[in-house]
Amino acid sequence: MRYVPIQHVKAESFLAKPLINDNGHILLKAGAQLNESLIQKIQRMGFLALYIKDEHSQHEIEDVIEAEVRQKATKSLQAFLEGSIDTRKMSTNDMKNLQNKEEEVKSVVKAIIDDLFLQKDIVMNMVDIKKVDDYTYGHCVNVMLLSVMVGIGANMNKQQLYDLAIGSLMHDVGKLFIPKEILLKPSGLTNDEYIAIQQHTTKGFEWLKNYSEFSAPARSVSLQHHERVDGRGYPNGLKEKDIHIYSKITSITDVYDALTSDRYYRRALPAKEAIEYILGGGGQYFSIDLTRIFAKKVNPYPLGTLVRINGGMVGVVEVINNENFQRPIVKILQEKGVKVTPWLCDLYKERNLVIESIIFSV
Ligand SMILES: [Fe+2]
Repeated sequence: MRYVPIQHVKAESFLAKPLINDNGHILLKAGAQLNESLIQKIQRMGFLALYIKDEHSQHEIEDVIEAEVRQKATKSLQAFLEGSIDTRKMSTNDMKNLQNKEEEVKSVVKAIIDDLFLQKDIVMNMVDIKKVDDYTYGHCVNVMLLSVMVGIGANMNKQQLYDLAIGSLMHDVGKLFIPKEILLKPSGLTNDEYIAIQQHTTKGFEWLKNYSEFSAPARSVSLQHHERVDGRGYPNGLKEKDIHIYSKITSITDVYDALTSDRYYRRALPAKEAIEYILGGGGQYFSIDLTRIFAKKVNPYPLGTLVRINGGMVGVVEVINNENFQRPIVKILQEKGVKVTPWLCDLYKERNLVIESIIFSV
């Protein structure tokens, strides 16, 4: 399967991953064959890219955790946060219920860490397909997963990973206190609206004070994840040494996940370009050391990516080289614009060949 922006999806291809709406309901099953009207319908629903299976790309792409675990994490986070926004009129029973929801979030986070801790070399090979411009809990879960992977790369122990996971999972909780019409405004924010959005950091931190069983550094991620190492972030303009490592990691994974998500005003960036943006921001926005660890955890050319190689070759990524993402094995489909009998080209051995660009159709 491969990731394809919707305008490049061909009518005869098959959906490789189910389309799921914000409530976790399946809109279209994996394996469904697409046609023009279905593609247009999907686009109108707000999906700007899909995972498809076609004659070029038959392999599966493994997520770092099971789809069911990802879904459980998303749902339990949503249930907990939305249930806990206003606790003033709650009965004892409601409070008990809420406590159970909180326990569920904690236990799913612990299970994810136990799982990822056993596979320390695991790499993020895919992006989550979401609808455009939705503030979804899926984003929070993604940011948590990426953050934990970076934490593992930074040799954190399980307790630290747990704190990092909770902090990154809850990083944007303050957005629940910002009016939706401001949050979802595509462009042209007034100065006041911009300030209102920035307040999601302080509001989230304030709210998390009710949850002292989460450690102070975990809670501070909500406050610090828009700080930048050069001191030009918000809300406090902290410099690198004053920003907690959990927040520094989350600032990277938050931006990465936003860049690789579709927006009404721009298509999601391919992983490769988003990674380059993150690396380019090292020392200014992000901690340089952490951007380097991050880049080892996210593959810019996931399986199934169609690539152009110098010398006029076009092919599809067949086997990932985990030591060097730039040099996978590519199944060559075309040479100088002419279709050829597919053959495997190992870029690790062919040192004079390099991937020039990602393409979406041949
Ligand atoms: Fe944020």
